[in-house]
Amino acid sequence: MEMKAPGTKETDEQKQRSEWSSRLGFYLAAIGSACGLGNLWRFPYIAGQNGGGAFVLLYVLLALVVGLPLLIGELILGKTSGRGVLASMRQLQKTDSVWIVKSFRWIGRLAVVLSMVILSYYAVISGWVLHFVTQMLVGLVTGTKPSSKTMMDLLVDNGWLQILLASVHLLFTVTVVLKGVQQGLEKAIGFMMPIFGILVVGLLTQAMSLPSSVEALRFMFYPDFSKLTMSSLIQAIGHVCFTLSVGFGTMVTFGSYMRDDENIPAAGFRVTFLDTFISLASGLLIFTVAFQATSTSFSDPSLLFEVLPNFLLDMPGGILFGILFFISLYLAALGASIGLLEVIVANIEERTKKNRRFSAWICAVISLILSVIPALSSSSFKNLRYNGRGLLEILDNVLINWILPLIALGMSLIISYGLSKVQKERFFLSANQVETEALFSHWRFSTRWLIPGLIIFAFLLQILRSAWPS
Ligand code: PHE
Repeated sequence: MEMKAPGTKETDEQKQRSEWSSRLGFYLAAIGSACGLGNLWRFPYIAGQNGGGAFVLLYVLLALVVGLPLLIGELILGKTSGRGVLASMRQLQKTDSVWIVKSFRWIGRLAVVLSMVILSYYAVISGWVLHFVTQMLVGLVTGTKPSSKTMMDLLVDNGWLQILLASVHLLFTVTVVLKGVQQGLEKAIGFMMPIFGILVVGLLTQAMSLPSSVEALRFMFYPDFSKLTMSSLIQAIGHVCFTLSVGFGTMVTFGSYMRDDENIPAAGFRVTFLDTFISLASGLLIFTVAFQATSTSFSDPSLLFEVLPNFLLDMPGGILFGILFFISLYLAALGASIGLLEVIVANIEERTKKNRRFSAWICAVISLILSVIPALSSSSFKNLRYNGRGLLEILDNVLINWILPLIALGMSLIISYGLSKVQKERFFLSANQVETEALFSHWRFSTRWLIPGLIIFAFLLQILRSAWPS
């Protein structure tokens, strides 16, 4: 399995680099990493916090203007260097690069650290999904019908249960990652993603027959710009990066496993399109159900878990359907976690030459220790609040609305100034250059000016808002 990294001198290390076994392999891993809790769990409540329609519009625009160009850029960076984000940065350092590239060197390390911290909090929410699966299984065996509220209350009051569930999740994640790229990653995700997509679309069709669907459509797609706040822009940028898995180094690593004949811009577009579609479908589904249930807060991280189970359990086929849905949601969360852990492991492996098994277990243990903070945020640490927010939300805010956009900013500059025009052209332009030439200059403009400009502007707005809260 040999892979050349054009544009660079081939080293022994690069020759041995794994490669996706087929074109489908890349898509499965990239879509598996992108589609996860970010679409079903995080997107609806963030949209709810920001008043719906206008934020949704902003999110879709930013997915195209910020997310897609960054995703393409990370893939090209990985493909050019044939390495993960840490080694890519070092390689750029060695070439006679401009000061911008030199001064953003730490972005790579920050991306890996962020992945580790995100994995810990992702593991906690994945644990919640596992909890719903097990509770429904218990309901099936004992013939009782659990309710969303009783299942959620059990979790909220019991932080140690959350830690236990997070550790089970991390165990599953390590097991798949240790099987290697082709054995583990491709197979697992290839199996889980289609089920997830079909279920979301199927449920949405079902939900559209509810009377509340009109209200949900209006809430999601009628833009009322007065609902946006000064932090909406950074929240939308942060969420776009989170949901597309950019700014974590994930796509750099995935790009490095890509085959030479892959059309990178088209691949980036397909992943972005599918991920955005799943988010919009999920948002519509959740809001239709939430409007039907009335007494729910639309802006709370527990939104998905408070409204969806009752809806599923009330359907014909009830509990079985609920189990199927939460298992597939769990598999989607597992796919995303695998993407996170894979990247950390691949980077540590490259840098320290420690073996995969060792790196994977160390990461899992560190993530488990870190997961104690979000896991206990609704029980032992529930009094630790700032501005009405609990620890889980504070953590989410710092990681996704501050650190992730900062990495995205650095990454766009690195892609822009660290790679030469020839290197970029090589992987951007397809055989039929005429068609892609214009897109190529748009893309270069975005990574050099538009994305950094937007992120800096969004930071300024966010800072102003913190300085003068309304
Ligand atoms: N994109 C994933 C989601 O939306 C989260 C994720 C981020 C996964 C980064 C891998 C890497 O749920």
